[in-house]
Amino acid sequence: MNLVIKSDYESLSLAAAQAIIELSKQKKEVNICLPTGTTPKGMYKALVDLHQAGQADFSFINWFTLDEYLGIPLSSPFSCYQQITELFYEPTGINKDRIFTFNSEAKDLDAEAARYNAIIEHMGGLDLAIVGIGMNGHVGFNEPGSSANAPTRVIDLHERTLVQSKKYFTDDHPIPTKGITLGMKTLLQSKEVFVVANGEEKADIVKFAIHGPVSDDVPVSHFQTHAGATFLLDTLAASKLK
Ligand code: GLP
Repeated sequence: MNLVIKSDYESLSLAAAQAIIELSKQKKEVNICLPTGTTPKGMYKALVDLHQAGQADFSFINWFTLDEYLGIPLSSPFSCYQQITELFYEPTGINKDRIFTFNSEAKDLDAEAARYNAIIEHMGGLDLAIVGIGMNGHVGFNEPGSSANAPTRVIDLHERTLVQSKKYFTDDHPIPTKGITLGMKTLLQSKEVFVVANGEEKADIVKFAIHGPVSDDVPVSHFQTHAGATFLLDTLAASKLK
């Protein structure tokens, strides 16, 4: 596990974007998984800016959504897929053939989780996973209790996640209670992982993630054991580290 601390949100976002740009420079096919939430918004902006400045060629990259809400249509502006589309795929004109996402409207969602994971496996696994940290230590929707072997699956969202999710929805929109997520197993098999967190509110969970024991109670702590994982923090999120 590696640790990189940046002075502010802007430089943190640029560093996360650079991890993607570096892979794109190899000009060979790579598989990257992308998160949603508040944290990666700056990264998407940086990627769009670099693309508009002609400094980024994404044509060799296959993109995978990290997780998705269940019970809302994929076309809803609140779906994780639509959020990434709006912030990144659309402004950069990413080829649709390169975009992979959960069909969260599938009749058999367990089969859908297996199908999606099998695509990643057939394509050689993830080269880079960019993930955020939930306030309860979740990764994607790998909620507390998720082991390092947790498969890609349907999951009931944790109480803390339901509270956290309120900020992503309008007041009149019900908060989904279920999600579908890449499992810890697939994420831990990614060659590189960037665990991104910013702001004071993440300082406690970041401390547990890095200094606490590796524990299913704090799924993000499993990345302590991954040589290719980098915790990418701003000074506020890192403020409680030793
Ligand atoms: C959400 C998402 C996660 C995300 C996390 C952190 O529940 N499903 O993928 O990483 O919460 O969100 P934020 O960046 O808004 O703190």
